Amino acid sequence: MSTTNSYQAREFNLGGLNGISDQTLEMHFKLYEGYVKETNKLTEAITKFIADGQVDQEEMPAYSELTRRLGFEYNGMVLHEYYFDNLKTGGGSGDPERTAKFARAAEASFGSYDIWKADFVGIGKMRGVGWAICYQNPTNGRLSNHWITLHETGNVAGFDPILVMDVWEHAYLLDYKPAERPKYIEAFFSNIDWTMVENRLQKATGIRTAGA
Ligand SMILES: [Fe+2]
Repeated sequence: MSTTNSYQAREFNLGGLNGISDQTLEMHFKLYEGYVKETNKLTEAITKFIADGQVDQEEMPAYSELTRRLGFEYNGMVLHEYYFDNLKTGGGSGDPERTAKFARAAEASFGSYDIWKADFVGIGKMRGVGWAICYQNPTNGRLSNHWITLHETGNVAGFDPILVMDVWEHAYLLDYKPAERPKYIEAFFSNIDWTMVENRLQKATGIRTAGA
């Protein structure tokens, strides 16, 4: 029996990026599909445990382990969708227009776009396996950058992901050496789809305005 709420892996029509090869993207899409599959498998297995209306004591260790893994797989799936969505076929334009909503939000939250960028890039260079994510707090519109360990540790509940950068080594190892992560980050920036970033921000701002 399969659950009715299982996810379908999305297709991303993405290629021809600057400094991030199609080979890397293809491998990365496969990894993403693995997260979708595992999220569905775990959800299904957990559903079986609770089908009789309770978790029996002897089921607790297996149930707990599956539930802990769910946060890893689920965030792995969702963050990859954000990541691929904020990249643009054919490459982007580098930095956003200074008059763009994002640049203005970065300035309001950090003092300047350049300081925001120094923080975001700095987080991306942190040692370890994870993500650099710029979030917007929907209650006051403020931007903040965060380091996410693996996929699930450090996400801020209720905040909206605005710009999502994968810094697991699989994101760049076919194109760069492990120590060349700064080059990958530079390539990432040259491929950002700022229209997508802008739309996420507008959506987040809209939520704030509607609730005000
Ligand atoms: Fe990844």
